[in-house]
Amino acid sequence: MGEAKNGRIFSGVQPTGNLHLGNYLGAIKNWIALQDDFECIYCVVDLHAITVPQDPAVLRRSIREVAACLMASGINPEKSILFNQSRVPQHAELAWIFNCVARLGWLNRMTQFKEKAGKNRENATVGLYAYPTLMAADILAYKATHVPVGEDQKQHLELTRDIAAAFNSMFDAEFFPQPEPQIQATAARVMSLRDGSSKMSKSDVSDATRINLTDSADDIAQKIKRAKTDPEVLPSEMDGLEGRPEAANLVGIFAGLSGRSQADVLSEFGGQGFGVFKPALAELAVMQIAPISAEMNKLLEDDAQIDALLEKGAEQAKAIADPILAEVKKLVGFA
Ligand code: TRP
Repeated sequence: MGEAKNGRIFSGVQPTGNLHLGNYLGAIKNWIALQDDFECIYCVVDLHAITVPQDPAVLRRSIREVAACLMASGINPEKSILFNQSRVPQHAELAWIFNCVARLGWLNRMTQFKEKAGKNRENATVGLYAYPTLMAADILAYKATHVPVGEDQKQHLELTRDIAAAFNSMFDAEFFPQPEPQIQATAARVMSLRDGSSKMSKSDVSDATRINLTDSADDIAQKIKRAKTDPEVLPSEMDGLEGRPEAANLVGIFAGLSGRSQADVLSEFGGQGFGVFKPALAELAVMQIAPISAEMNKLLEDDAQIDALLEKGAEQAKAIADPILAEVKKLVGFA
């Protein structure tokens, strides 16, 4: 594993089934790229998952699916640490200490809690409320310096920084670093293939709206062929995409997959119809996604092997978190 490099990355992903192209272009692809320049710790956050009700059998499956997907996408266990959160008790331990550092007033401001709890707040779990202190513990148990997250997690990261500072001041120590958010600004939001104004979602009842990371090459090509479009040709400039959400989405996906800017894609395809653009996009998507789904499906045939890799990752994670927790306990006065 890389020693100092440019710093230490920590990021987490919830164990949910139906990972799709939106997850890939929004987060996973970036996680893979970061492995070259940072020491990376990636975590399937199963403790966070149970802040809302889960079916145990489904949860067990989803943890392995997400792990398999990350491995298939190119998270390299030789380079990076990959594990599921519940295997490393230091997360929950540090979260408790942070529950005694963070203030009710801070958590009351968290917009994700308000959204997820909805109208029936009295019925939300205490865990859902304390979700951000666990996330702070995830990051700070490793003294991570950089945290790639989506825009929706920015507030939680700011809270993490506040908790780090409050801990340091409470115990009069320059102990925790201030982790930097790495918000992926350029990541195009991947929208439904059937409706360019709603996000591609694992929970959409229609499977035709998304490209799953378990789809076969044929499925992928068919879904792109049938994706909703409009009758116009593609514009040569970005502002020509305004008011054309389906065209914009497909151009965004092309850009995301190819690593090119949308403007660059338009400079190639401007003036062409979807009869030309869609086959090019399908070819690109099949080339990138089909090998991931094939590898993921292969990995999922052997649960024991996935579990063994997660266990190995957990041991590596513990080796970093354990001495940090030991120091925390000294500072707090437990030892
Ligand atoms: N809350 C994050 C999400 O829903 C997942 C997460 C948990 C995370 N712990 C983290 C992300 C630590 C970054 C760092 O996307």
